[in-house]
Amino acid sequence: MDQQLISLVNKLQDVFASIGVSNNIDLPQITVIGSQSSGKSSVLENIVGRDFLPRGTGIVTRRPLVLQLINRPASSKPPQANGDGEKAEDAMAKVQLNENNPDEWGEFLHLPGQKFHDFHKIRDEIVKDTEKMTGKNAGISPNPINLRIFSPNVLTLTLVDLPGLTKVPVGDQPRDIEKQIRDMLMRFISKPNAIILAVTAANTDLANSDGLKLAREVDPEGTRTIGVLTKVDLMDQGTDVVDILAGRVIPLRLGYVPVVNRGQRDIDQSKSIASALDNERKFFENHPSYAGKAQYCGTPWLARKLNIILMHHIRNTLPDIKARISQQLSKYQAELTALGGPMGETNPGSLVLSTITEFCSEFRSAIDGNTNDLSLNE
Ligand code: GDP
Ligand code: NA
Ligand code: MG
Repeated sequence: MDQQLISLVNKLQDVFASIGVSNNIDLPQITVIGSQSSGKSSVLENIVGRDFLPRGTGIVTRRPLVLQLINRPASSKPPQANGDGEKAEDAMAKVQLNENNPDEWGEFLHLPGQKFHDFHKIRDEIVKDTEKMTGKNAGISPNPINLRIFSPNVLTLTLVDLPGLTKVPVGDQPRDIEKQIRDMLMRFISKPNAIILAVTAANTDLANSDGLKLAREVDPEGTRTIGVLTKVDLMDQGTDVVDILAGRVIPLRLGYVPVVNRGQRDIDQSKSIASALDNERKFFENHPSYAGKAQYCGTPWLARKLNIILMHHIRNTLPDIKARISQQLSKYQAELTALGGPMGETNPGSLVLSTITEFCSEFRSAIDGNTNDLSLNE
């Protein structure tokens, strides 16, 4: 997630905390839907930038995973350059890659108090608890796994990974598997607060996209659905997604973002996210169909689009929060006056309100440069 957004929102949450406002900004939940093996878990993992979700061919995600990212300031000193000409960013990058970063860990709701600093162990636990609830043989369960990730590098936000839509039961799956999964997904995406990432593999027909069909049912205006096209690297030679991106196939108000995630071989060889992102960038920059618009392709652009949507959401919520704060302040001032307390220049209430007002204008100026980006793709 974008560092600027993270620090802006944290600043705002700090102000609220310091004046005792409990109703913070309620950030949307980012929810992925699509057919089985379309690349949903891969997309989420790339957005978070950490390896921790089970991925693979077949039905791997068999229970909803409700992933709460929680921003928590670093307890230790920020990494310092080592004095050997190393840049501070490089020192930071090393820490982010370190699996045992003391400031970053996961905790499962079903294992309270147990901190997972090794993200591979998080994946193992997801697999283990999935099997515990559903058996090993392709069974599914609507019973979610709740995982919290604490880190100084994330925006406090909820992401939901969901089983894929399937039509034909396999293994232990019940006959009405299609309906069961559908109902499960509907429960998550019908919340007005959900941002829907409708994932479709680019080497399949968009007109048959289960994700898009379902998204349209709950978001007919398309105000909270982003189309994500995965596996662009697996398309037949001479074909591309240019017509889809241009809105000539199934237009979406928020547009589509093409991405290239790690393939099964990359997963088997434990290819890192960093090298996968590098590979993705090179793919779009060097492909004749995308080279001219490469900045609107790939995971970084998808993350940026999400940020823009989040910023719009926050901007829309701010007036209401401001009003609530003013209300609280006038009540407080009335009480002070009734007590014969001091008013005027040193009034703490006006200081708080001006801090909020200042923040709001800072926030607006920060997003002004971003608000047009969403239409650039069309
Ligand atoms: P999910 O079932 O929708 O969560 O899909 P996964 O993320 O588990 O991915 C399913 C399979 O597709 C895995 O083997 C991935 O490696 C592969 N995959 C996902 N996205 C891409 C992509 O963009 N390109 C390639 N080549 N493979 C991908
Ligand atoms: Na899968
Ligand atoms: Mg999955």
